[in-house]
Amino acid sequence: MRILVLGSGGREDAIAWALEWGHHANDDEVFVAPGNGGSRLRLDVDPTDPQAVVDLCRREAIGLVVVGPESSLAAGVSDALREASIPVFGPSAQAAMLETSKAFCRSFATKHSIPSPVSEVFVGPQAAEKALLWADQQSFEIVVKADGLAAGKGVVVPSSVDERNAAIKTLSLSGDLVLEERLFGEEVSLLVFTDGITICPMPPARDHKCIGEGDTGANTGGMGVYAPTAACPSDMVDRIVQEIIQPAIDGLRAMGIAYVGVLYAGIMLTAQGPKLIEFNCRFGDPEAQALLPLLQSELKSVLLACVNGTLSELEIRWSAKTSCAVVAAAPGYPSHPILGGVISGLESVAKSDNVQMFHAGTEKAGNEIRVNGGRVMCVTGLGEDLSSARQSAYAAIKHVNFEGQQIRRDIGWRELARTTGGYANSGVDIDEGNRAVDLMKKKVEATHTSDVLGGLGSFGGALSVRSLMTMNDPVLVASTDGVGTKVMLATDLGRFDTIGHDIVNHCVNDVLVQRARPLFFLDYVASSSISAEMVASIVGGMADACAANKCVLLGGETAEMPGVYSPGHFDVAGTLVGVVDRARLLPSKTIEPGDLMVGLLASGLHTNGYSLVRRIFAGLPLDVVPQGWTCTLGDALLASHRSYLNVLDRALKGDVIKGLAHITGGGFEENIPRVLPPGCSAKVDLGSWPMIPIFELIRDVSGLPDRELYRTFNMGIGMVIIVKPSDLEELRSQIEEPIWVIGEVTSGNREVDLA
Ligand code: AMP
Ligand code: GLY
Repeated sequence: MRILVLGSGGREDAIAWALEWGHHANDDEVFVAPGNGGSRLRLDVDPTDPQAVVDLCRREAIGLVVVGPESSLAAGVSDALREASIPVFGPSAQAAMLETSKAFCRSFATKHSIPSPVSEVFVGPQAAEKALLWADQQSFEIVVKADGLAAGKGVVVPSSVDERNAAIKTLSLSGDLVLEERLFGEEVSLLVFTDGITICPMPPARDHKCIGEGDTGANTGGMGVYAPTAACPSDMVDRIVQEIIQPAIDGLRAMGIAYVGVLYAGIMLTAQGPKLIEFNCRFGDPEAQALLPLLQSELKSVLLACVNGTLSELEIRWSAKTSCAVVAAAPGYPSHPILGGVISGLESVAKSDNVQMFHAGTEKAGNEIRVNGGRVMCVTGLGEDLSSARQSAYAAIKHVNFEGQQIRRDIGWRELARTTGGYANSGVDIDEGNRAVDLMKKKVEATHTSDVLGGLGSFGGALSVRSLMTMNDPVLVASTDGVGTKVMLATDLGRFDTIGHDIVNHCVNDVLVQRARPLFFLDYVASSSISAEMVASIVGGMADACAANKCVLLGGETAEMPGVYSPGHFDVAGTLVGVVDRARLLPSKTIEPGDLMVGLLASGLHTNGYSLVRRIFAGLPLDVVPQGWTCTLGDALLASHRSYLNVLDRALKGDVIKGLAHITGGGFEENIPRVLPPGCSAKVDLGSWPMIPIFELIRDVSGLPDRELYRTFNMGIGMVIIVKPSDLEELRSQIEEPIWVIGEVTSGNREVDLA
């Protein structure tokens, strides 16, 4: 069949596309007249000249005409075609008065009891005066409309009385006026196919009429649309059909008019139910660009069923997807669009099942495509939901480029705002957070002494430091730290308490090296989503570690941050504050070449090198027990960072310790120099302490050079003590575990020699 689409906009390009490709391969020839720069087959005609259109159809043996714009309907093109027995999809000029005359539409609606705003028509030379008077007498806000067709520019929704009065004066200059009650609610566009009897609704759509983002600025023909909208569920669609569309189609039939085509109802969903804002007698633009890609039935069959009055025999199928159409408009649109700009990038828009691009105000000029109308291009994205549809549309339209283009970046924003479903749906569960607090409460409170004032839930933790008044010159020593990517291992193993020990003990050791004893600890746990049990387990571990170090767990924060953390992942951090009398601060200035370095064994990797070690063992399941071991690889890797507070307690009360270095990130090389005075270096005798199994395995299987290993890991020594050689035995007597002389202080420039 040879089909003619009348018009030249994005709507017509979409109709032609749907007829040509849609979801059905066929060998129909689809012409667009006069068409635009995107039309494949074009014919030249004035689409508002009925006789010219009839002649063209005869000449070209057209079997079906689809009328795009309202101007053709108003001009009587459908009537002329019908008279000439040329099948046409589009209502008569008389029926189209529903759109072309707002006054007719309102009196028709009243006659057929179609729910509508209160309205009044003002005609004749005194229209403006009468309208001003009427407006002043109403208790509601008022919308001012020009009676005839005005391509979206004939409606003013004033925001003040002054604006209202100005609009009345301006619009009255071009003819009769309609004033009506301003309706409030969600707007929805319901388009239906009809053969004059049967009505088949399309998915309800939401237009974006304003030029500006956030729905601001002048009215346009439409800058974007999505469908379906959740604001209009299927029972509301049924209600709109029943209360608004059916009475209209029946009312027209009673007037002897069989309405064939698309009837488009602009609806406000008010608190009193749906009310009619306006009827359009054709596809919307850009509604067609959004709706036709969702149509799964063959468009030609649907149009012919309307033309032949057999729509009741057809079941029209729609995709379950959501579509989102975004318009690129010319600079100066809507008041004074600037034409002529060159459009580039069209070839980079990758069309697919989920992306279609439609030309609107474009024209071919040689090899170029130029801007030739207010709305220039329209890109439609499809997706499982609005956000993915939108993503597809915006990803594609970013390739389209012309100078001064106007693209609203917010199509669908209200729907996205409305469908968040509350905080819990956005991934933040306040109840679960509170449950976590309940679960951890007991353990945390077990760390509280009588110096803790106020309980869990205060804004800040309060701690009396009365006990420090016995000190000469108390110095606070504070440390903040995290446990790095060891948290990922905990996630993999589903065990979280050890991480709590890690963070506390890490901080304890950091202040201990200055001889400070812990006062209090504050924690921070952040995750993609809170599981009360997981958080309670982490904080419970922290509380146990605090108790073991005689430290108060004074407060903390649990943050749920979906999007910042990947699903299932978490992080912990903590701050520990300790105290030491100033005269007792370590390191001592007396460290000198010849002093011994004594090591205390580590419990494992502590909290360093996990990014590397996770890669080293990427191929070995964590529940494997390596050769000669008594625990799993996972257990060894997750073993918690030990605190050296208790084992060093006696020695720290005495005077033999000159310095302490906590071997953390950076190993010996980075950490020992932190306590060396100028003029001193250190020599570490590798092999002078027993290698614990996890490091033997790492060295064995990774093949990494020693230097790399000793820079990344503690290699079995978690704390280094510096003593005078003559004090070694006294130190040994104060520490209840084996200690290892691992090297000595040498003279030099604070370097570490691994020998
Ligand atoms: P129309 O050209 O009739 O579609 O009007 C353009 C836009 O003006 C509509 O989409 C509405 O946003 C707004 N509008 C028109 N009439 C009313 C009304 N009675 N109450 C509230 N808003 C209206
Ligand atoms: N997008 C609104 C219309 O086509 O009238």
